[in-house]
Amino acid sequence: MIQAHALPATDVQGYSAVARTLHWTTAAIVLFQIPAGILMANMPEGPTQDLLFHLHRSFGLLLIPIMAVRLAYRLTHTVPPLPDDIPPLQRLAARTTHGLLYAVLVVQPILGWVATSAYRAPVLFFWLFELPPIWPEDRALSDVLFTGHRWLGIALALLLAGHIGAALFHHFVRRDTVLMRMLRG
Ligand code: HEM
Ligand code: HEM
Repeated sequence: MIQAHALPATDVQGYSAVARTLHWTTAAIVLFQIPAGILMANMPEGPTQDLLFHLHRSFGLLLIPIMAVRLAYRLTHTVPPLPDDIPPLQRLAARTTHGLLYAVLVVQPILGWVATSAYRAPVLFFWLFELPPIWPEDRALSDVLFTGHRWLGIALALLLAGHIGAALFHHFVRRDTVLMRMLRG
């Protein structure tokens, strides 16, 4: 009789509860961050804009420790293999998209914090405490960094469109287990 714990790691079919919790927490934050960022950068000054700035910075900063844990977890655990019949090019596309998503999610919040520090705006974490600036004041540099932050935000949105489109394609067109193993494990 084959016992579950005797199976090789590659026979694991779904993502673990930890991987799923990290994935969906990150997803919820990012799906708030992008529209909030675009909205607050393009609306008139006032209390609503202040609130969005505050929430955008706080949730963005929260992503830094979450991504640190997620990256550490990802590097120390095996990922369930994709179904056998997925062509090599699609495997490569999935691996590249996931790698780029990880990279952008590590860089983007740090870039936001550095740019805000260079601008010398206060960085308050959820009305709790103020985080120190991590870059000397330099308004010209801040402008450049915020342009980078905007382009990285656009790149992230495009990556996500492909990522979410692929997940839905797997579920509704190919009718395989790829989406369910990230939803239910
Ligand atoms: C919106 C922010 C999101 C981000 C930043 C994100 C990021 C990622 C990353 C980095 C992975 C790779 C996980 C790993 O191998 O360690 C992944 C996997 C996955 N994501 Fe997302 N995701 C997001 C939203 C979504 C949404 C909305 C869906 C579903 C519609 C989804 C479905 C999946 C699925 C099914 C996998 C597993 C793919 C596989 O088995 O190879 N994701 N996601
Ligand atoms: C993954 C996390 C983050 C994402 C996806 C993200 C995304 C975005 C996006 C899409 C914009 C709109 C850019 C524009 O239309 O001009 C934006 C603006 C902004 N972000 Fe972030 N951001 C993140 C984290 C942060 C963090 C941690 C901070 C600061 C601590 C920050 C500070 C700002 C500021 C101040 C703006 C307004 C810039 C301007 O007015 O030109 N962001 N962000």
